[in-house]
This record gives sequence, C-alpha cells and structure tokens, in this order.
Amino acid sequence: MFSSDSEGKQKIEERLKETQKVFGYVFDKFTILNIYKLFTDNTIGRFEFPVASGKESLVFAASKNNRFFAVKIYKTVASTFKNIERYAGQRWGIDNTRNKRKFIAQWARREFRNLGEATNAGVIAPKPIKVVGNILVMQYIGTKRIPAPMMKDCEITLELVEQTLKSIRTLYTKAKLVHGDLSEYNFLIHRRRPYMIDIAQAIQTDDTMARVLLERDVGIMTRFFNKFEYKLDENKVLKYVVGDSNVFR
Ligand SMILES: Nc1ncnc2c1ncn2[C@@H]1O[C@H](COP(=O)(O)OP(=O)(O)O)[C@@H](O)[C@H]1O
Ligand SMILES: [Mg+2]
Repeated sequence: MFSSDSEGKQKIEERLKETQKVFGYVFDKFTILNIYKLFTDNTIGRFEFPVASGKESLVFAASKNNRFFAVKIYKTVASTFKNIERYAGQRWGIDNTRNKRKFIAQWARREFRNLGEATNAGVIAPKPIKVVGNILVMQYIGTKRIPAPMMKDCEITLELVEQTLKSIRTLYTKAKLVHGDLSEYNFLIHRRRPYMIDIAQAIQTDDTMARVLLERDVGIMTRFFNKFEYKLDENKVLKYVVGDSNVFR
C-alpha cells in the first residue's frame, strides 16, 4: 500500500514536471498571447486533444461550435530550427533575421500562403484558416475521435496512388509549386483521400532548385509506392507531374 502510494505520487510529480517542461518549451509568452488571440477573435472555442508533437511544431485539434480545426504551433523556444540559415534569403522570401520569433512567424505565414495556393488550385490539402504569429489554424483532417493517419500507416490502393500523383501534378502545373519535403509522412489519409501537409518549405516551379526538389519528391513517392505491388517508372511519373498527359496511356 505504502510503496504504491508514494510511487503514484512520484509518478504524478514526474508528470507534472514533464508538463511544465513542455509548457515552458512550447508556450512562451509570445505563443500564449497568440493562443489568446485565437480565442478572443473567436477562431477557436477550445482545445480538444493533442494530435502530434515534433521537433519544430505541436499540432492540436481545437473546436468552435462543434466544428474542428487543426492548430499547428511552431515552437519558438525549443525549436532548433537549423533551417534558419538554410531557408532564409530570397528563395523562401524570408528575412535573414537573427530574430527567431520573427523568422518562425514568417515561416508559419508561408505555410498558410502555400496551403491557400495549393487548395485553390485543387490540390487535396487542409484549407488554411488563420495565422497568428507562430500559430497556423487550418482545416482539421480526421474524425472527432481520432486524427487522420499518415500514409505510411495505411493501405495503399491504386486510387490513392493516382490521387497522390494527381495532387503533385496539380501543385506543379496550377499552383506552380514544388513541395520539397514529400514522403509517406506528409500525406494524411482521410476518407480514402491523400491530404498533402507540411508545405512551408515549398518553392516556385521557376526556382533554380525546383527541378532537383521535384525529382527528389517524385523519387521518394515512387519508391514508396513501388514497395507495394505497383511498378511505377520514376521518369514517367516525373513527366506526368509536370503536365505531360500522354505518359500513362
Ligand atoms: N490539418 C491537420 N489535421 C490533422 N492532423 C494534422 C494536420 N496537420 C498536421 N497534422 C498532424 O501533425 C503532424 C505534424 O504536422 P506537420 O505539418 O507534418 O509538421 P512537422 O513539420 O512537425 O512535420 C502530422 O504528421 C499529422 O499527424
Ligand atoms: Mg511533417
């Protein structure tokens, strides 16, 4: 009895410590202020549950009048953001600022804009709703009980393969963007549709790096699909995604 009691107490204390650590890491004053803004401007009414936590962001499900949203909080304090140097400059239109907070706000705004351009062009992706500082609110993908799984954990049907390639093609030909970080981790599967996510780093198709990144994206997706029974030819897929309509006849 005694020992299990103190064990329980210790556990609680550990958890509390852990929680405080997480809070201190993620929710600095700037973040808390931005969360507050999302409540006062009625974008969200409450947080429902955490969805994912990565090195550079935390994602939550939130709701307003029973409608769900995804809230992606870019970490300001804990983020290593080795990408700062890599992504600063003309290519990503980001000031070469030493101010991490400013950098991350620009990064969140980029993701907001790219999601808008992608979804307007017809790419299957979460619709962006609002961006406040380091916080992006977008369409939530999933059910009220569980968020949509990543493609890596799903059954890969031919329909899914086709929709995925079509989305990459639409992103390229209509939105004029190359995602640049595609993989089976950055598509969520919901109602048998592949939602493209994590698109802050996308670049314009006329960028000098566009071809290299497109080839990498296509290579990664093709190899992933070919682990199943598909026999996609990487070169044909490349031709297809840049708009050639004859490749799959
Ligand atoms: N709109 C969304 N709806 C539901 N879950 C999401 C949404 N956006 C992101 N997620 C979840 O959060 C995770 C991290 O989001 P992502 O944009 O990939 O950020 P990161 O840069 O941390 O990889 C995703 O793998 C996914 O599980
Ligand atoms: Mg991701």
